Amino acid sequence: MEWGMANRMAQLIQADGHCLFLPVDHGYFQGPTKKLEEPRKTIEPLLPYADALFITRGVLRSSVDPDNAKPIILRVSGGASMVGKDLANEGITTSIEEAIRLNVAAIGLSVFVGSDYERESLLNLSKLVDEGEKYGIPVMAVTAVGKELEKRDARYLALASRIAAELGARVVKTYWCEDFEKVATGCPVPVVMAGGPQVDTELEVFEFVYDGMQKGAIGVNLGRNIWQNDFPVAMIKAIRAIIHEKASPKEAQELYDSIKSKETR
Ligand code: 5RP
Repeated sequence: MEWGMANRMAQLIQADGHCLFLPVDHGYFQGPTKKLEEPRKTIEPLLPYADALFITRGVLRSSVDPDNAKPIILRVSGGASMVGKDLANEGITTSIEEAIRLNVAAIGLSVFVGSDYERESLLNLSKLVDEGEKYGIPVMAVTAVGKELEKRDARYLALASRIAAELGARVVKTYWCEDFEKVATGCPVPVVMAGGPQVDTELEVFEFVYDGMQKGAIGVNLGRNIWQNDFPVAMIKAIRAIIHEKASPKEAQELYDSIKSKETR
C-alpha cells in the first residue's frame, strides 16, 4: 500500500484495529432528519468521541470548523430523495478534485444490490475506486438497503458486501444481522456496521454492536442510534467503550446510565 493510502487508512482505523465513524450524511436524501435539523448542534458535542465523520461537502463546509475537525469520509453519491421515484437511483455527486481540496481521509458511496439500479450503482463504485486509488484515497462502500429491500439478512448483506469488496472498496459499511459472521468472513476488507432507524432501547444497540464486534466487524458507522438518543454523548461514549475498550453490553449500559444521570442533574 502506498504511503498516502496507508496514512489515510490509519487515520480512519485506530491503532487497536477498531473504529467509530459518526455518519451525519442522512440529509442528502432525507432532508432535515430528526435531531439533525441543525447539523452543527448535533455534531459539535459528539466530535471528540468520533474517529471520523461521514458527511456531505455541504454540511462539512457549513457546519464543521476546519481547524477542529476529525478525519472526513466524504459522502459523494446522491441524486435521489425520500419523495422521489427510487432511492436507489444515485449518481456520483462530488468530484475527486473536490475531495482532495477538502483534504478528506476517504470517500463513500452507496451501492444498491438487487435494486433496479444495481448495475449503475456498482459501476459508480468501480469508477470511484479508480479515481480514489489514483490519489491514494480509500473508498467506503455503503451497502444501502433500498425501499424495496427491507430484509437485512446475512445472505443478502454478505452478497452486497462481498461484491463491494471485489470492486475495490477499502472499507464496507453494512448492517448488523443474525449470523453476522457470515457477512464479515465473506468480505475480505474491513467491515463496519450501521444501525438504521432508532431501536427501542439502548441495550439493544449495545448488544448488536458487541455481537458484531465479536463476529468480525472492526467498528461502526452508527448515526441515528447515537444522535437521536436523548443522551447522545452518553450513547457515543458507551459505544466507544465497546469498540475501543472491549466493554460488554452490560458495562456499556452502566456507563450510559452513569453519564446520563450526571447530564440530567
Ligand atoms: C445514510 C447512511 C448512513 O451513513 C448509514 O445508514 C449509517 O447511519 P445509521 O446508523 O443512522 O443507519 O448511509 O445515508
